[in-house]
Amino acid sequence: MSYQTLTVVALTQETADSVTIHLERPDRQPISSRPGQFLTLILPCGPGGKKERRAYSLSSTPHEAPRLSVTVKRVPGGLVSNYLLDTVQVGQAMEVMEPLGNFTLSPSPKAARSLVLIGAGSGITPLMSILKAVVKTEPNSHVLLIYGNRNEESVIFQRQLADLEASTNGRLQVEHVYSQPLKPAAPHRHTGRLNRTMMLRILEQRHQFPAEQAEYFMCGPEGLMIEARAALDLLNVPDARIRRESFVASADVAEAATAQPNGHGDVTDNPADNTKTTRTVTIQYEGSEYLIEVPAGKTILEVALDQDIDLPYSCQAGLCTACRGKCLSGKVHLDEREGLSDSEMKQGYILTCVGHPMTDDVVIEIG
Ligand SMILES: Cc1cc2nc3c(=O)[nH]c(=O)nc-3n(C[C@H](O)[C@H](O)[C@H](O)COP(=O)(O)OP(=O)(O)OC[C@H]3O[C@@H](n4cnc5c(N)ncnc54)[C@H](O)[C@@H]3O)c2cc1C
Ligand code: FES
Repeated sequence: MSYQTLTVVALTQETADSVTIHLERPDRQPISSRPGQFLTLILPCGPGGKKERRAYSLSSTPHEAPRLSVTVKRVPGGLVSNYLLDTVQVGQAMEVMEPLGNFTLSPSPKAARSLVLIGAGSGITPLMSILKAVVKTEPNSHVLLIYGNRNEESVIFQRQLADLEASTNGRLQVEHVYSQPLKPAAPHRHTGRLNRTMMLRILEQRHQFPAEQAEYFMCGPEGLMIEARAALDLLNVPDARIRRESFVASADVAEAATAQPNGHGDVTDNPADNTKTTRTVTIQYEGSEYLIEVPAGKTILEVALDQDIDLPYSCQAGLCTACRGKCLSGKVHLDEREGLSDSEMKQGYILTCVGHPMTDDVVIEIG
């Protein structure tokens, strides 16, 4: 895993409670990234200067290299977002992990596709990266952004979106949805909750976006994702066309699963059976092999970090996949599987930050 120290080269205040932080390497060499990926910031803002990590989606695109930009929205009571919004300065050095994440696409000048992006609040960040990359690279593609906010003043990238929309000759359309607007509704501005009815109303008016053939990317609070999913189900959109990114772990862990190698995941295994057992786990990482004893109630990542094994991680909530590994033998129970696709689960991939060994022969390969 590659770590870098970047310099804050500029700041853009987006709204009263969000800021874009523009970062570059001191030698201005580009860092490889894909639209929609995230950067992990490592900041000494924990108790006693302890380093804290948080994932922030890139709001920039690879075209903006050597600059990488992240946009941070204040979370009330949140440690890192408040630290950043209150203290970040141009010239500051910042430790980061290389860009990661699968909520991405590969722009191609030959592509002629319809993309529907659905987001709310800070969920706009990876969508912004994706839409800028597609509009820039794919002259024959169309992008529809459905973007929910409380009111006109809480819209991150308001100006940039308006400018892009005006300059792309209809290839980008933005539909704003405000729950508590300050001004009366106007064309492309809707009033109400961004729920399934609102989404269906907007989608059904857009004939350039044939529901079953478009590609959908969604990022926002859990409630929005559930509503968007319900709207797309009503339009018979196949699962394979829908991609989602979550910033916050869902309170509902009902989907938790058990992964084991060769794709025989068993979601019925009861982690309660595991409560009294300490199990041995073998971790293979960067050419070394580590043996750790994982007591019940601890995750594989927690134990590895306690033993100063420097495994990769970011969100520690099963969302971002920075800690992803492959289970080569044994069985691992996951408290959360949001970040992993069904196909990854079937191939035996696990997330160490939410993973608990269920057998004594667990071997995990990382990297
Ligand atoms: C893949 C990924 C990409 C992300 N991209 C962005 C981004 O582009 N911009 C951005 O601002 N954030 C983004 N986040 C969220 C970010 O990583 C932090 O979780 C967020 O800034 C809160 O951190 P904190 O230290 O301020 O709050 P914490 O001290 O970690 O949490 C305080 C409380 O707030 C809750 N909470 C945490 N995050 C949120 C949230 N987003 N909304 C509501 N409640 C929350 C927690 O559950 C906790 O109860 C992303 C997260 C992931 C996993
Ligand atoms: S650290 Fe993000 S999924 Fe494990």
